[in-house]
Amino acid sequence: MDEQKKKAKARIDLLRKNISQWNTKYYSLGQSDVSDELYDAYYLELKTLERKYPEFVSPDSPTKKVGAPLVQSSFEKVKHSVPMLSLENAFGNDELDLWFKRLEKNISLGDEDHNNSEKESFPNNSKSSSLEFVAELKIDGVSISLLYENGQFIKAITRGDGLTGEDVTENVRTINSLPQKVEYKGSFEVRGEVLMTFSTFKTLEGLANPRNATAGSLKLLDPKLCAERKLSLFTYQALGLKELRTHWDNLQFLKREGFTVNPLSEICSGIDEVKRFCEKANNDKKDLDYPTDGVVVKVNDLSLQESVGSTSKYPRWAIAYKFAAEEAETIVENITVEVGRLGTLTPVAELKPVLLAGTIVKRASLHNADLIQELDVRIGDYVIVRKAGEIIPEVVSVAKKEKRGEESLPFHFPETCPSCGTKVVKVESEVAIRCPNSQTCPAQIHRRIEHWASKSAMDIKGLGESIIAQLVQKNLINEFADIYLLKAENLLELEGFKDKSVDNLLSSIQESKSMPLDRVIFGLGIKHVGANTAKIIAKHYSSTDELMNVTKTELIGIDGVGDAIAEEIESFFRNEENRMLLERLKSYGLKMESVQENEFSKKPLLGQTFVITGMFEIPRSGIEEMILKMGGKVSSSVSKKTNYLILGEEPGSKLEKAKKFQTKIISLQDLRKMLNEE
Ligand code: IVH
Repeated sequence: MDEQKKKAKARIDLLRKNISQWNTKYYSLGQSDVSDELYDAYYLELKTLERKYPEFVSPDSPTKKVGAPLVQSSFEKVKHSVPMLSLENAFGNDELDLWFKRLEKNISLGDEDHNNSEKESFPNNSKSSSLEFVAELKIDGVSISLLYENGQFIKAITRGDGLTGEDVTENVRTINSLPQKVEYKGSFEVRGEVLMTFSTFKTLEGLANPRNATAGSLKLLDPKLCAERKLSLFTYQALGLKELRTHWDNLQFLKREGFTVNPLSEICSGIDEVKRFCEKANNDKKDLDYPTDGVVVKVNDLSLQESVGSTSKYPRWAIAYKFAAEEAETIVENITVEVGRLGTLTPVAELKPVLLAGTIVKRASLHNADLIQELDVRIGDYVIVRKAGEIIPEVVSVAKKEKRGEESLPFHFPETCPSCGTKVVKVESEVAIRCPNSQTCPAQIHRRIEHWASKSAMDIKGLGESIIAQLVQKNLINEFADIYLLKAENLLELEGFKDKSVDNLLSSIQESKSMPLDRVIFGLGIKHVGANTAKIIAKHYSSTDELMNVTKTELIGIDGVGDAIAEEIESFFRNEENRMLLERLKSYGLKMESVQENEFSKKPLLGQTFVITGMFEIPRSGIEEMILKMGGKVSSSVSKKTNYLILGEEPGSKLEKAKKFQTKIISLQDLRKMLNEE
């Protein structure tokens, strides 16, 4: 074998080894240590080399297999009735054109096999310039097959190796938008993508990206934990329906039956319209709350799809146009380790600032210790950073390893917590490394306060990360109960705080005292208890007092609460320090009680119109918000329809008008009483 061939063979072996390892990890554990770009680059290189050196082609190559073999796991294996194929990628318009040319050729070949009358049934294959496509977003989630019989959802199977997947029915059942019942009574299968929104992803710790988080969630053994992950679904294909003629009809069928179909799908006439769609989607993707990594282009006519057919891996009638990920190269100036609310240690690369997707990036997540080791990132390294959607940028790979200084040493993950010095622990079944000192670790306390004040918990506006950092640093707060002891003079000490912002923050703290029980339970930050579980618990208990005596057995009896959750809740309320914390909160006037869930109690001002005049101790926008939140309307001028005028100091002409119309005139305090906010 000549030198060049030898080299090629060695490279092929290396590429195959890496790709197979990534595949195994992804398909069996739902985890991925590699960026999509690197994976695609390796795959493409391997394919090119195999084409150039056909003597090295092997049936074991990952290019010849769909997905990876399944390794052992505790989910039941199910064979797919129709294989779940993958999609060929096109990077850029040139590759899209190549695919289109091949498609045209395939269509004309298909024509030769058909007599004229059959040709008639292909409405748009004669003029390929007007060949009709459907362009859809390529959702960056986990593909799923959903089986329905007699109008009922019966099974959900992961893609697995494309031929056999795993039964994840109970986890998929927790997806809110999944129709459990449908009108159509025949047997059929729906294919789609399970995903996690960026907003949900942001509330989790220690996970690489929404796709990984989705894959991991589907593999959770306790569906109740999966429910917490609030997965979503977009469907894109129904199989087993004879009466449909186009892919577009297929999407309409899905919508009619109650499935969620991505609203940004469009019919495109000809490849130029497809390109315009791709360009627009690429520009608009930053505004979406879910991850997408490209556009899937599909031939619309189903009989045409059938006539061009598929290879063993891909359908010939579809292609994935991949967006270029936004990447940049920079230097790692330091590697620091952050501690999360639940004690998870997350390594972070402190970067030489670099412009990426329109923003200056100074920090990027390194996710976990395993990843640092695998990438072998060191301080001083040149790295490629990437930003996908709204997620924090991440380090994808190390560039120019040869440029490393001699003094560069592999990074050693700390053995003690960088915040409190406690020895860290690694839980056997998790990738995460944790600080076990949940009670006094300053970093965990800081994050807990942040969580307590966050929008989905107590919604204390103006109490963001930097304010909390200052308050903690000045020893003004050590636990979230301390928030309720803050005084105007404390806040005026803080950087950038003026009378007005102090007033706003204090009234927001005041308002948070009447937050209902579910928000409090969520805000407490109990492990495994997300917003959903908190709501379920709050429906069964009237106050935190009642929860003090709750038992695990009792909790398990509640629909939607599993073993793990029940255990965490019981031990949280048994813990002496937590009990003291709750007592303190109560003594500061926090209600922490359940609200009756009827339309009126949620929105006591429904159907009432308010006009505001004069000056108040809180900003007008705050009053408006209170009214809107409780279902009322705010109008700028008094009319016959006005129900209440809220009167402040030095009122304007609106007061006269209100008197004329005999509108009820009330103070801000009266409004608060109406809202039970006093
Ligand atoms: S159609 C025959 N449409 O991308 C293949 N796939 O890289 C049919 N995906 O396994 C797939 N969004 O999990 C299709 N709108 C979309 C999609 C989509 C995401 C995923 C799917 C597939 C993978 C291929």
